[in-house]
Amino acid sequence: VHSHLEESIRPYIDLIDTLRSVGIHKDLALPTIAVIGDQSSGKSSVLEAISGVALPRGSGIVTRCPLELRLKKVTGGVNWKAVLSYRKKRIEFVHSSLVERHVETAQNELAGSGVGICDELITLEVMSPDVCDLTLIDLPGIARVPVKGQPEDIGNQIKSLITKFIEKQETINLVVVPCNTDIATTEALKMAQEVDPEGRRTIAILTKPDLIDKGTEKNIMDIVHNKVIPLHKGYIMVKCRGQQQIDENIPLEEATQIERDFFQNHDHFRDLLNEDKATIKCLAVKLTQNLVDHIKKSLPQLNQQIKKKLWDVKNELKEYETGPPKDLKGAKQFLIETLKRFNDQINSLSSGEQMSEENL
Ligand code: GDP
Ligand code: NA
Ligand code: MG
Repeated sequence: VHSHLEESIRPYIDLIDTLRSVGIHKDLALPTIAVIGDQSSGKSSVLEAISGVALPRGSGIVTRCPLELRLKKVTGGVNWKAVLSYRKKRIEFVHSSLVERHVETAQNELAGSGVGICDELITLEVMSPDVCDLTLIDLPGIARVPVKGQPEDIGNQIKSLITKFIEKQETINLVVVPCNTDIATTEALKMAQEVDPEGRRTIAILTKPDLIDKGTEKNIMDIVHNKVIPLHKGYIMVKCRGQQQIDENIPLEEATQIERDFFQNHDHFRDLLNEDKATIKCLAVKLTQNLVDHIKKSLPQLNQQIKKKLWDVKNELKEYETGPPKDLKGAKQFLIETLKRFNDQINSLSSGEQMSEENL
């Protein structure tokens, strides 16, 4: 089933990347997935689990610039390769362990080495046979209280930076919310609702289901079942590696198995497996499908734009198309007309110059 899914998705993702590379995104915003949430809600953990890319993480404000993570599934030789770009810089590397260091260096350059934030984009392209075709943007976590060295209005700075990304109609918003908090009052969810009241492009991800207070399971299930804050695209619950599992160096593949076991053995959350509302794997499939739907929807608009460009170019081409006729009389006439047109153009150009000189 999955390989079939990949086959049906691949051409669209390729199309988008091709369009990006020729600069079409300047005329038409292409769909992206933005990840938002409170600090330490588990954003980096979710991104890491989806991408297999270890991103800078920790407590406090770690993501200080928007980071675009472009995942490309490649076959044939390449094990793992990444290109990090920001401003005019472009850094290529082949060891995934270098991601953190390079991203940190880039952030320090863009946002200073302190605790400030910056809205300049860092792009990390990862090519590997082990990733799925997705483009995601990691954003700084929402902070409530400024830490030492941060301006008083850091909270608002971060919110307006996040809003810039999530308000775009072409963006799918991934809202990361820990299960062990009051989900209904989460700031990130509120922000997503503000820019997308009907929840048509918002997916909520509930993290840390292993850390819930006993007795809150039913409330959480109500939320997942869309009974509290209805979202058109709904909720998915995931269990990522906790700090201890990270410290123990538990690999991601093993974490996937641990996640499955967790849900299979859970008295309340077990059902979510059959409902396709749990696990990272399920999230990745859902995300990719959403992206494809999004691209499919924007294709007619794109088609119109391309047709118009083509029409303009064809018209321009027509002016150069006609060559001299074969017969002498026709050729003479053609030469006269061409010279006259040339003369007219020169005249209009120089009168234009005169006018602008007069204006000076
Ligand atoms: P971010 O600040 O939103 O990027 O959050 P992080 O991904 O850095 O996660 C914050 C902390 O929560 C880290 O110590 C993670 O290991 C931990 N964490 C994330 N997801 C889970 C989870 O599902 N279960 C448990 N127990 N811990 C988690
Ligand atoms: Na963090
Ligand atoms: Mg983070």
